Amino acid sequence: MTSRLTLPMQSVPFFDYPAVFGSHELDFQRIFTDIGRRGAFIKQKDLEEFENAIASYLGVSCAMGVGNATDGLEVALLASGIQPGDEVILSSHTMVATAVAIHFAGATPVPVECAADHLIDPAAVAAAVTSSTRGIMPTQLNGRTCDMDALEAIAVKHGLTIVEDAAQALGSQFKGRFAGTFGSAAAISFYPAKLLGCFGDGGIVVTGNRAVYEHAFELCNFGRNPSGALVRWGFNSRLDNLHAAILNFQFSSYDRTIARRRHIAALYTQQLKDVAELVLPPAPDSDPSHFDVYQNYEIEAEKRDELKQYLQDHGIGTIIQWNGQAIHQLAALGFTQRLPYTDWLFKRMLMLPMNLSLSDDDIGYVSGKIRTFYGYRS
Ligand SMILES: Cc1ncc(COP(=O)(O)O)c(C=O)c1O
Repeated sequence: MTSRLTLPMQSVPFFDYPAVFGSHELDFQRIFTDIGRRGAFIKQKDLEEFENAIASYLGVSCAMGVGNATDGLEVALLASGIQPGDEVILSSHTMVATAVAIHFAGATPVPVECAADHLIDPAAVAAAVTSSTRGIMPTQLNGRTCDMDALEAIAVKHGLTIVEDAAQALGSQFKGRFAGTFGSAAAISFYPAKLLGCFGDGGIVVTGNRAVYEHAFELCNFGRNPSGALVRWGFNSRLDNLHAAILNFQFSSYDRTIARRRHIAALYTQQLKDVAELVLPPAPDSDPSHFDVYQNYEIEAEKRDELKQYLQDHGIGTIIQWNGQAIHQLAALGFTQRLPYTDWLFKRMLMLPMNLSLSDDDIGYVSGKIRTFYGYRS
């Protein structure tokens, strides 16, 4: 009698947190020990080094670690002069955090349509400007920077302040300028699954404007200025020194991180470009205006929900961003806008695995299953 050998199913999780730790476990243990032995927990040299490293990478004068990017966006808005009663325009395809920051800064978030590349549509921004509009908060989504020429032109025409949600975009560029360096200020997230991740919550505010930095610093430090004098009401939002030390370590290989993500995106493009039922994100270097860093690889797919289930049945993790809800669809928060293009996109979008734990073979497996699902040869 012959026995059948059943091979274990290949598994490609959407994200693998233990693998991140395991890839550099000894380095992380060394960092924990060093920080612990120095007792260097709050506002120590590791934080200063990290802030300086990010500022010099982006070419901005000021960077300030914060507890998370949502806090960072709120203080960036407040420090940039956004006030109660102001309207701030954002893309409806963003995390609720963007709207939350605008709301808690006292302003009204006004979501608008995104464009075919899933980023805010400048024409929709222009159409949404009213006499109460004071700001635009573009989300540099999925590691791609918006058409900042178009947004800056609208801002100049109407006297609006731009504060970038660059939570997903460290290293991404538009026409040679980094996301986070347009407008008054920006915030970047170090949530564990981000391009540069720590082991919990973390973020940074970046700005080229010293006055904005000082105001943001006071807001995040109980209202105290850098000399320790109490000058306004403030709260507490700081990047932990331990996280800064971990981020310093991760940032030392950031060029390789970006190169690997762009390589994975190129593999997906190569292996899926003939599948007519899909719309893929722009391939790396397909548009000289954009340098994309692929925080996410977000496709559009016919029969999206069936595809997601099929991939899950074959051990492949995918995610529908924001639990499948655009900002204008969040009725519990009082939004009433009608945005048909975004509604349509939200029935089609799906994020494929995109992270440093993936091998080229994993990408081949994911692409192969997608091809099989639509009846294409692998
Ligand atoms: C587009 C966007 N904005 C804001 C945030 C909020 O960042 P954080 O979790 O650091 O507050 C995130 C992610 O978490 C995000 O993806």
